[in-house]
Amino acid sequence: MIDIHSHILCNLDDGPRTLEQSLELARLAVQEGITMILATPHHRNGRYLNEAHAIIEAVAVFQEQLNQNQIHLKVCHGQEIRVYPQLIDDYDDGSLLTLHGSSYMLIEFSTGKLPERMDEMIYELSLMQITPIIAHPERNREIADQPDKLLRMIELGALSQLTSHSITGKFGSHTKRLAMELCKRNLVHFIASDVHDAIHRPFHLQQAYDSVRRLLGDDYVTYYQQNAEHVIRNTPIERWTPAVKRRSRFSLQRVLNILGT
Ligand SMILES: [Fe+2]
Repeated sequence: MIDIHSHILCNLDDGPRTLEQSLELARLAVQEGITMILATPHHRNGRYLNEAHAIIEAVAVFQEQLNQNQIHLKVCHGQEIRVYPQLIDDYDDGSLLTLHGSSYMLIEFSTGKLPERMDEMIYELSLMQITPIIAHPERNREIADQPDKLLRMIELGALSQLTSHSITGKFGSHTKRLAMELCKRNLVHFIASDVHDAIHRPFHLQQAYDSVRRLLGDDYVTYYQQNAEHVIRNTPIERWTPAVKRRSRFSLQRVLNILGT
């Protein structure tokens, strides 16, 4: 398995504090069947600044440690970028990273409101051949209340990534229901762990895939796993057509059923 979103590097953000904790996470990753992991430290989220050069250096150091400890995990560079007004300029200046140097960029929103002028930003990124992957949209209040706002961003070219814990139920039954709804509507393209530590935010990536397999079938699991490979290879993912909710027609059908017509 490939995990495209993780906080496995130590001392950069709210992930592990020590190298030993990072190595412990790496061992857990291998136990779960993860062979490749993208290290995506927070950047510009109001607490942490992790510019491109620092992450690339930290990944190289950590890979060396993995090799020395005979932990068979490949770590690649990435960045979880909070959407902010100067994002496009900073990408031009080289302080931002895409995932493993691909055309895919991992972005996140606050848990509250969506950023202003998001449509424009997705468009501007597309002009630069960058496809934004929205990290854990299910944890944003505005999207949770109105999933069609995610649909709109996907129609404009964005992709989305659910967090494993949202699917397994660790973030509550409401989030789990929402996560499944987003999957069923084809508004999800990736599942990733967003791992932070071994106790409170472990991987549970295999568990999440098992839940998806049980609730939605093998095709969804294959789809998400293949998409993660596309990111690593920097090849285009297949976009399943999003389903539009048609409440009124559903209601009409129910009335007709009740009337027996
Ligand atoms: Fe994250």
